[in-house]
Amino acid sequence: MNRTELLQFLSKIDLFHFFSGEELTAFLEEAAEVQTAKGVVLFHEGDPGQEMYIVLRGMVKVFRGNRVIDIVKPGDYFGEMAIIENQPRSASVAALEDSLLLQVPLAVFQEYFSRQPKSLVAMMRTLSQRVRRDLEILGHDYEQINIMVHDMKNLLTPFHLLEVMERTVPGLAGNRYLACMVKARADLLVLMENALAQAKRLQIETPIHADSLDQLIVDLQESVWMIHPEIGGRGLRVEVTGSLPEFPFSSLGLCRVLSNLVLNAAQASEAEGCITIALSREDDAAVVKIIDQGCGIPEEVREKIFQPHFTTKADGNGIGLISCKQIIEETHRGNLTFEPTPGQGTTFTIRIPFSA
Ligand code: CMP
Repeated sequence: MNRTELLQFLSKIDLFHFFSGEELTAFLEEAAEVQTAKGVVLFHEGDPGQEMYIVLRGMVKVFRGNRVIDIVKPGDYFGEMAIIENQPRSASVAALEDSLLLQVPLAVFQEYFSRQPKSLVAMMRTLSQRVRRDLEILGHDYEQINIMVHDMKNLLTPFHLLEVMERTVPGLAGNRYLACMVKARADLLVLMENALAQAKRLQIETPIHADSLDQLIVDLQESVWMIHPEIGGRGLRVEVTGSLPEFPFSSLGLCRVLSNLVLNAAQASEAEGCITIALSREDDAAVVKIIDQGCGIPEEVREKIFQPHFTTKADGNGIGLISCKQIIEETHRGNLTFEPTPGQGTTFTIRIPFSA
């Protein structure tokens, strides 16, 4: 854009309505035009941020993980939050088209906008509109989740037939596979109720009872891993070594953690390989190691794998490990760590105090 076009363009944006001609010209001297090709990520969520951007041409998307939060069009701006709050970037931004941006460094932002209360009010208006819109989206999403969970619960009704079969089909009384399926249905219902309670921001009580982790693992082996297309279906074996006494834990919580970790291990492993679950006790804690001989976690991604939305899988969404960490640390006051398996692969270690 030439200078006259730029001046005209900016004077139409509410942030600059109260700038004199000289101020606008001086401001432009200190801002820089930046060309960005379609698809380029300008910055990632969590990066430090030292500048904001005004879109002159083209379009960018603001996103977190695989959720698009906003599309920013010509005349709008982004990247102001990190510099206002002196915090890392709240979201990632990528160009949706070849775009032209005006980059405003922190010092210029402070010099020009902090001196202009009316510009600050204009910015507050934009931020307030974003909050209002996000609240509407949040409300709508909550309604949708509510509707879907309600219908999912209805769709689960035929699984009550499992109990009917157990009672009426000769030879099925006390069948272990049926019992695993009945438990899976009950777990799903609890998880759905928890999802709803979470969306309502209600405190969720997670029941913790003394139980046998050895038995839980046997159940998971027989009812999930052996028949899972990416585990048993690829000829992978899950072997258990050691044993633990009964101790208090959330059965549903550890079911979710072990399923996530074993599936990750399987996805990193060659077909026909072996995953070991090693159970032991260390002082006053239960220790569970999930050991694979797979491709390992490259050095450069090791520090990112517990970050939300980080994934190395093409179709992953980066929430599995976060959920494991939350369940181990928040529900059980334990910890979840990983290190390379001697030789090859990765070992994830869960430590849960017996006093959880
Ligand atoms: P910043 O946090 O510096 O970097 C990411 C930018 O995305 C952020 O500034 C805002 O400009 C923009 N952004 C973050 N959250 C929202 C939102 N809810 N609606 C619109 N834009 C947003």
